[in-house]
Amino acid sequence: MSVREIKPDIYWVGAVDWDRRLFDELIPLPDGTSYNSYLIKDKKIALIDTVDPSKEDELINNLKKLYINNIDFVIANHAEQDHSGTIPKILGLYPNAKVVTNAKCKDMLKELLLIPDDRFITVSDRETISLGDKTLEFIFAPWVHWPDTMFTYLKEGKILFTCDFFGSHIAASELFVKDETKVYESAKRYYAEIMMPFRTSIKKHLERIKDLEIEIIAPSHGPVYNRPEFILNAYKEWISDEVKNEVVVPYISMHGSTRKMVDYFVDALIKRGITVKPFNLTKTDIGELAIALVDAATIVIASPTVLVGPHPNVIYAVYLANALRPKLKFASVIGSYGWGGKMVEQITGMLTNLKVEVLEPVIVKGYPMEENFKALDRLADEILKKHEGIS
Ligand code: FEO
Repeated sequence: MSVREIKPDIYWVGAVDWDRRLFDELIPLPDGTSYNSYLIKDKKIALIDTVDPSKEDELINNLKKLYINNIDFVIANHAEQDHSGTIPKILGLYPNAKVVTNAKCKDMLKELLLIPDDRFITVSDRETISLGDKTLEFIFAPWVHWPDTMFTYLKEGKILFTCDFFGSHIAASELFVKDETKVYESAKRYYAEIMMPFRTSIKKHLERIKDLEIEIIAPSHGPVYNRPEFILNAYKEWISDEVKNEVVVPYISMHGSTRKMVDYFVDALIKRGITVKPFNLTKTDIGELAIALVDAATIVIASPTVLVGPHPNVIYAVYLANALRPKLKFASVIGSYGWGGKMVEQITGMLTNLKVEVLEPVIVKGYPMEENFKALDRLADEILKKHEGIS
């Protein structure tokens, strides 16, 4: 993707990764992604973040297209390699360039990329540097998902460069957001996958930037926001303490017993006016499950018994749900077994990060019968009662 001008002398010079389908060898990327790097020209020249090393040629070519033969500052908002991985290459090509970052990020860049100490300028929170007519201010925002993260605010352009914060994994030909509905879903997926565990920090970051005059938010993944209130409002909704009248049901069934229970239970919830989101874990994109966990009040995990515990794929989903720390209020377990086991104890024992009330499980020996369906109705009734007052 070629250079795009955001404002006079401010350019997008990154790379679009149309083909990437997995991040961290874990997170599905149904729409690819981009690594946004930004160049600001003034008396001094600053490059804000770089690109994944697999795309270094695209960044370097973009700098050539702008006839950049000197870079003064490489601003590192975050040490993760999808943004920092090309810094060593840039430092080699531009020998005067210094990496400008905070002390924590500097330590990480030295450890991860072996950048020598004398190539750094360390800044403190709210410190500014002048490029000539333009000024960059650094706003520390630790725990966007690593401890090193910060934002860079271009005062004169009223542009906030936020790296992962507000990002979305979307490969698109447009520089700015074109379809807000699409970006909303992708940004929510991204928030759910990496930022939801740090919801408390995210709240503080939103508070810190609320008085900035912002015309443009320029994250390091996905489209740039020229209507910042769209993504600011979305984040306010996701980090709020409110939950929705929704139940997430991740499930596996091996021979149909648990499936029969899930089908009945899903219908029982729908009849009671509760939104339900079942996820067959043999087919689920875990990003979709993460999105559903952002707002839901309740999770009901459904599993057959394998040996003496839950199905391993259920363990994986429960591990993720616990690690992502959604704001769930209630949890329960339904499922089946052939001769015995400790499935319920194992699943509930994994929910250590969640502040949930565990509702009485429904566990069936063999194929479910009338009394088991009544028990599922009882669980659905209890959820309805617990959800009273939730919008
Ligand atoms: Fe896009 Fe935390 O890196």
